[in-house]
Amino acid sequence: TGLTALDNGFVNTASTKSAITFIDGEQGILRYRGYPIEQLAARSTFLEVAYLLIYGELPTDTQYEAFADNIRRHTLLHEDLKRFFDALPSHAHPMSVLSSAVNALSTYYEDTLDVNDPEQVELNTIRLLAKIPIIAAYAHKKSIGQAFLYPDNSLDFVENFLKLNFGVMAEPYEVNPVLAEALDRLLILHADHEQNASTSTVRLVGSTEANIYASISAGISALYGPLHGGANEAVLNMLGNIQESGEGVDRFVQRVKNKEDGVRLMGFGHRVYKSYDPRARLVKQSADQVLENLGVKDPLLEIALELEHVALNDDYFKERRLYPNVDFYTGLIYKAMGFPTRMFTVLFAIGRLPGWLAHWREANDDPKTKIGRPQQLYIGERERHYPEGRSFE
Ligand code: CMC
Repeated sequence: TGLTALDNGFVNTASTKSAITFIDGEQGILRYRGYPIEQLAARSTFLEVAYLLIYGELPTDTQYEAFADNIRRHTLLHEDLKRFFDALPSHAHPMSVLSSAVNALSTYYEDTLDVNDPEQVELNTIRLLAKIPIIAAYAHKKSIGQAFLYPDNSLDFVENFLKLNFGVMAEPYEVNPVLAEALDRLLILHADHEQNASTSTVRLVGSTEANIYASISAGISALYGPLHGGANEAVLNMLGNIQESGEGVDRFVQRVKNKEDGVRLMGFGHRVYKSYDPRARLVKQSADQVLENLGVKDPLLEIALELEHVALNDDYFKERRLYPNVDFYTGLIYKAMGFPTRMFTVLFAIGRLPGWLAHWREANDDPKTKIGRPQQLYIGERERHYPEGRSFE
C-alpha cells in the first residue's frame, strides 16, 4: 500500500480534533472546557461539570435545575431489566454486569435510537446519566446478595447513589455529608481525560453510527482493563498483597524494577503525564481528609505512602518519569467509604460517563466525522497456494 508510518499505541498521532479537555502532560495541567481541574474540584459539583463537558458552558441556575430535575425523572429502570441481574452469577464482576446491562438498556428504547435526531440523542444522554448509577448500585447489591432499592428522588445525585449502595430496605438511611462531598469530588476528577483508551473506544464505535448505548457499553469494557480504569482495583489488591505477604515495600519495588513476572507498580505512570498527575494530587488530599473524618486508620495507606516515597526517589522511576496517577489513592477512599474492591472501576465509569457522552456527541455533531478505520503494516505471508489435492469436499 506504500504505507510506512507505524504508530504503536497511537503515541504520536492525533485521532481527532476536540474542544473538550486540555492536558499538558509536561506541566501537569488539566482543564475541562478551559476551566482548571483544581477550581472545578474545589467549587463545582459533578452534575455541573457533566453539564459543562456535554454542553460546553457552565449552566445558569435555571439550566442547572432543569438538568438535575430531568436526570432525576429518568432514574427508574424498567422492571424487566431488573430481572436481567437474576440471570448472572452473584460472583459476576460488577464491570461485566455494568457493560452488559448498559447494552441491554438500549433494547427498551429501540424507537428512540436515531443518532441523527438531536432530540433522541438528548433523551438518551439524560437516560444514561440517570440510569448508569442505578445499574451500578444494583450490580453492587447483587454482589452482596441484598435487595435493590428504588431511587429516592428527594436526594441529590450523589446522595441518592450512596443510599442505593448502602441503604438497606425498611431501615432509614442517613447520608454522611463527608462521604457525599468526597465522592462528588472524585467523580469530578474522573469526568474526562480527552482521548484515553475508553473515550477513543466510545468515539470509534460511535463513528460507525452504532447507537449511543452500544458505544458507552464498549467504553465501559475498555475501562475495565487494569492498565486503564481497572488500575484502581489493581492498586488495592497490590497493597493488600504487600501487606499479607510481608515482603516489604523495598522488595516489591525491586521486583517491579526487575520486571519479574511483568509486575508493575499499579497506579503509577501515564501515557500523557510526565510529571505528577494533577488529579492524583487532589485525590491524595481527599484521602487524608476522608480517612481522618471517618476515623479510619488503614495500614494500606501507610504502605501506599511508603511506596510513593520509595518510587519517587528511585532512579528507575525518575528516568522513566513515572509518578502516581489518579488511580493510586482513590481505592483507599472508596474502601473507607465501604465499597468492595470490585466496585472501584464501576465508580470510575460513573465519573467518566459525562466525558464519554461529550466526546460521542462532539463526534456525532461534526459532519466531517468519518468512520474510524486504522491502517496496518502487513507483516504476514505474501501469497501461498492451497496444497494440491487437499480438500474438505
Ligand atoms: N511500573 C513499572 N514500570 C512502568 C510502569 C509502572 N507502573 N509504567 C511504565 N513503566 C515502565 C515500562 O516498563 C517502560 O520501561 P522500559 O522502557 O524499560 O520498557 C517505561 O516505563 C514506559 O512504559 P510504557 O508501558 O511504554 O508506557 P505507556 O505510556 O505505554 O503506558 C501506562 C502507560 C499507564 C499503561 C503504564 O504506565 C502502566 O502500565 N501503569 C500501571 C497501570 C496504571 O496505573 N494505569 C492507570 C493509568 S491512569 C488512569 C487510567 O487510565 O485509569
